[in-house]
Amino acid sequence: MKNYNIEKNIYSKDGRLLLAAGQEITESTLHRLKSIDYSKASKIILSNEKKLYENDVLVSSKIIKLNLKSSSLEYYSRASDRVAKILFDSKNQPWWIYINTLSNYVDWLYTHALNVSLMSIMIADAFNLEMLDEIALGAFLHDIGKLMIPKSIIQKPAKLSDEEMVFVKQHCDLGVSMVSEYKLSKISLDIIGQHHEKLDGSGYPQGLQDTEIPVPSRIVMVADVIDAITSYRPYKSNKSMKTAINELNRNPDKYPRDVIDIISTLLL
Ligand SMILES: [Fe+2]
Ligand SMILES: [Fe+2]
Repeated sequence: MKNYNIEKNIYSKDGRLLLAAGQEITESTLHRLKSIDYSKASKIILSNEKKLYENDVLVSSKIIKLNLKSSSLEYYSRASDRVAKILFDSKNQPWWIYINTLSNYVDWLYTHALNVSLMSIMIADAFNLEMLDEIALGAFLHDIGKLMIPKSIIQKPAKLSDEEMVFVKQHCDLGVSMVSEYKLSKISLDIIGQHHEKLDGSGYPQGLQDTEIPVPSRIVMVADVIDAITSYRPYKSNKSMKTAINELNRNPDKYPRDVIDIISTLLL
């Protein structure tokens, strides 16, 4: 549960201190604020909430920031603004329930969603792609199907059995069906359904190959692998960004060369 705090002192028209900076916004303070000035109250809450999402992006993206080339700072800053905005705008959308659940189900799933979205947007921006909002949202929601997989499997601190793996691999199709009524763009839906495909057809769920996998899905495929390698999981330690990029370079048959090259211009 996120806490919202008053950003600065709020005074009544006659100069009395109504709420002090730093004070937590509770049901009763909110009620008090709204009874005095509703529009002021909603502005304060909105600005606090936006800051929380900006902060979420900032905290989660440490590994990206740490490996950022100075020439890529503008890409990072544009991407983090966009991801924070997508999150904030999603509050009024039906898929918010999934985003909210992501942060409560398994904590690293939320961080992973933020990181993959951020990195995907940086790459897409460097490619001069349009539809960045659709890519950001698809990347953010790419693993929501994992909400349907038991925590005991997602958090298992050991190698998954073949049966468990079959279960986990269903998260792409499950994710697509979870948002099927929400009128998401084709780009976002493709990303959710295709982010585990590989160029050589060895991926899942469909075993798509080469150009059957659209560029936005290819980008998220790569960002997903990078974040998975560089992040800690209950079943593995985190490795360096260099290790992640080397891993991609060792598998040119699986991962798109042009996306890897763009990553190398942005990071390390
Ligand atoms: Fe996934
Ligand atoms: Fe993922």
